[in-house]
Amino acid sequence: MKKTEFTAVVPVAGAGTRLRPHTYSYPKVLLTVGDKPIIGHILDELSAAGVKKICMVTGYLGDKIKEYVAKNYRQLNVSYVEQPEPKGLGHAIWLTRRCVTGPVLVMLGDTILDADLSKFMTSKEDCLAVKEVKDPRRFGVVETRGGYISAMVEKPEKPRTNLAIVGIYSFRNSSVLYNSLERLVDSGQTTKGEIQFTDAMALMVKEGHKIKPVAIDGWYDCGKPETLLETNRHILDKKKFSPRAKNSLIIPPVYISPTAKVENSIVGPYASIGDGANIDSSIISDSIVNENAFIVNMNLSGSLVGPSATVIGRKDQLNVGENSEIKFDKSICG
Ligand code: UTP
Repeated sequence: MKKTEFTAVVPVAGAGTRLRPHTYSYPKVLLTVGDKPIIGHILDELSAAGVKKICMVTGYLGDKIKEYVAKNYRQLNVSYVEQPEPKGLGHAIWLTRRCVTGPVLVMLGDTILDADLSKFMTSKEDCLAVKEVKDPRRFGVVETRGGYISAMVEKPEKPRTNLAIVGIYSFRNSSVLYNSLERLVDSGQTTKGEIQFTDAMALMVKEGHKIKPVAIDGWYDCGKPETLLETNRHILDKKKFSPRAKNSLIIPPVYISPTAKVENSIVGPYASIGDGANIDSSIISDSIVNENAFIVNMNLSGSLVGPSATVIGRKDQLNVGENSEIKFDKSICG
């Protein structure tokens, strides 16, 4: 099968509640990780794999996503389907049924993967990416038999394996998938209050449909502040950048947008500074500073600074005499 025949479905309609306050005014997929927004990494990967047709499911702050894609990915053929309410991943994918004929590749909008997409697109079988995780309870979990998936459950309280479903799915005949989703939607079945993609696939498996688990190592979640920072560290380690800053010390790996202004600062390791950001007299490591943020006199680590946010610390000059006590942090004794 030629891999270019695939249509990629990318659901990005969720409200990203775990990344509030950043997602109050920005959709999750437009938050920066490494050198660009999350969705930019996903679209780059699809484009590199030769996917020409992409159908995105938008909802929450969808216009901002459309604007970004139109500006930066004009070469891709992207169409949109609206999900007015985030009723679940299964519902989001069901809504794309009229955009897709033939094989479909589903990629979640908040997951960056180091995976060979062609493995999924040239396989003669339907595939689903899995990864062993320590605590599978917040994932869809699969059981396997004879090299195929024999059962799958969404967010089980007592998982029977630690093989989690991690965000890439390929189906050679999309009508089988959409048929299962249709039946799920019609039945009104929900798990944890949502129409789950896992439940639709579980139905297919129960009816004897063969889905092959494909183990992948490089799975980078962007759903929570700590995982976003972890993914940022991974991207900075992987890509090589040549950051520039005035009168500053840069400790690699670091990304500084060519349109950002960094002066009199120590930046890195693992700092990403977005377009138009302005940083002066600060120390910034293990942090993501989004576009047009303004930071002066700060010492930041493990931080996320949102687009156009202003963070100003203080700079003091002291002439401290014998036996003086100056405590800006009252929790430190001594
Ligand atoms: P998540 O559940 O991780 O994303 O869905 P979320 O709902 O935006 O985040 P939280 O849980 O509130 O923090 C995985 C992907 O599926 C999309 C999301 O946008 C995300 O890219 N999704 C999820 C939809 O498009 N529609 C839905 O109804 C649910």
